[in-house]
Amino acid sequence: MCGICGVVGLRHASPIVFDGLRRLEYRGYDSAGIATLVDGKIDRRRAAGKLDNLGALLETSPLPGTTGIGHTRWATHGAPTTCNAHPHGTERVAIVHNGIIENFEALRRELEAAGQVFQTETDSETIAQLVDYHLAQGLAPKDAALKALQRLEGAYAIAMIFAEHEGLMIGACHSAPLAVGYGDNEMFLGSDSLALAPLTRRISYMEDGDCVVLTPVGVEFMTFDGTPVRRAEQTTALAAGAIGKDGYRHYMEKELHEHPLVIGQTLQRMIDPANRKVVLPDMPFDLATVPRAVITACGSAFYAGMVGRYWLESIARLPVDIDVASELRYRDPPLAHGSLGLLISQSGETADTLAALRTLRQNAVHILSVLNVEHSTMARESALVLGTVAGPEISVASTKAFTAQLTVLACLTIAIARARGTLDPLGEEELVAALLDLPSRAADVFAQGDAIRRMARVVAEARDVLYLGRGSMFPVALEGALKLKEISYIHAEAYAAGEMKHGPISLIDRTVPIVASAPFTPLFDKTLSNLQEAKARGGRLLVFTDTKGAERVSAIAEEMVVLPHVHDFAAPILQTIPVQMLAYEVAVMKGTDVDQPRNLAKSVTVE
Ligand code: M6R
Repeated sequence: MCGICGVVGLRHASPIVFDGLRRLEYRGYDSAGIATLVDGKIDRRRAAGKLDNLGALLETSPLPGTTGIGHTRWATHGAPTTCNAHPHGTERVAIVHNGIIENFEALRRELEAAGQVFQTETDSETIAQLVDYHLAQGLAPKDAALKALQRLEGAYAIAMIFAEHEGLMIGACHSAPLAVGYGDNEMFLGSDSLALAPLTRRISYMEDGDCVVLTPVGVEFMTFDGTPVRRAEQTTALAAGAIGKDGYRHYMEKELHEHPLVIGQTLQRMIDPANRKVVLPDMPFDLATVPRAVITACGSAFYAGMVGRYWLESIARLPVDIDVASELRYRDPPLAHGSLGLLISQSGETADTLAALRTLRQNAVHILSVLNVEHSTMARESALVLGTVAGPEISVASTKAFTAQLTVLACLTIAIARARGTLDPLGEEELVAALLDLPSRAADVFAQGDAIRRMARVVAEARDVLYLGRGSMFPVALEGALKLKEISYIHAEAYAAGEMKHGPISLIDRTVPIVASAPFTPLFDKTLSNLQEAKARGGRLLVFTDTKGAERVSAIAEEMVVLPHVHDFAAPILQTIPVQMLAYEVAVMKGTDVDQPRNLAKSVTVE
């Protein structure tokens, strides 16, 4: 977690760094800070809370200097106070850090015994104290940094500046991303290319165990033992202007309204509309012979994977294992040689998903990742990437990336089914037509705004909410419950509707609304029976259905959102949109911080 930005050049550094932090705030927003060199001395400004607090501080107390580093924090070790805010440092060095230094306690004891004086509770300060210790022994900045890096264990991306060394910045990373940006007479460091998007499109991605020494006109990559290495310069396609709110109240609202566009763009990449066929890039392995698939991801991306499992099993007849990445990475499951590892991630940086990817790869599993950030660490480590074409997703709550993930998984299912001979050309045409219908059906969902707000008024009053769905609507229910918890802080649980009578039914009373996803699919009658059972026990039913299901649901539902009826295959994609909109409307009614909910960060780059 945490975002890092740094610059060495000729311009005033702190506004450039601050702007970069604004783009990185999605990685954490507990506190923020910037350090620069002013007349050779390190000076810094730090503030607890949102980046705006640091902005206000810089207004009243500006920070000059042309060499600077900044940080936006998601606290791991030490409370989110100003004292624990980065940059950390001494008179000789200032550092910013993303990740966790796992051996920090041992290092801290050793450094304190050697006379170093710590000021914070963080693991990160150990880096500064270690570098300072070596500087105090007379080492030059690069040598002191390399010596310190050789002692660090854990995951980290670091940027450092040094007193009396104007125009010098050193970066390093291990199991955490860091990008170098090339400017004219200035060089940048950033946690991702988005941070650097308005500054430069020329980027080099650092690899695990890289250190980089930057001056306004020079870049020198090396390993931690000082061996020079080369890192290719790439051109990023990210546009600087892509992240405004465009008149919407929140990024989440804007991103919800982008569903139709994003589904359409993603389909465009994967479908030949003239022939109604899925066209995927050349595969580095044979889809026809993979013995099984292992799907893994975290959070919403995991729920997308659950929908993918229903499709792959029922349409492609491919056996599928699925687990959250934080479990899979430690489960040591027996993996069939040559299986397909399907990794799903918006950011491509989620620590657990990345670790699971590496575990699968070590076990000779073919890695196919479904990613939104195509220049991410996971992209670089995958045999094949299928992009979700959702554009930058800024709101911490994932919305459009989720439906884009489903869209990719749907196309992949068709391709695998065709390769395995479980789908004939007519069947493929039918499924492709169902997907091509989605962008305009998705646009229709926004006409349901009033009905969704009526539901939201009921949910906003509740302390607990139960979400239900069957088959591929079960992951949609899970997604709805997660979104509600995440941004409105209302407790919500999702159950496979058939499971309700095995326990959760005892929760049902007038104070626990039941949100059900029940379009007219082959499981509609079964879901309806479960809803009847809930109604019979006094449950208040808020039902997402479609034009075909509405007639039968209306008799028992207190509130109903009626979407166009679409093919069963496409239904989970369409039905996700109003479920996410419900969470949004509830959060707005409750007045929470919709885009940056408490305790969360967009990209979870620590374990
Ligand atoms: O970047 P990723 O897709 O790997 O992120 C996975 C989860 O952290 C993410 O989906 C999280 O659950 C969202 N905040 C949900 O809205």
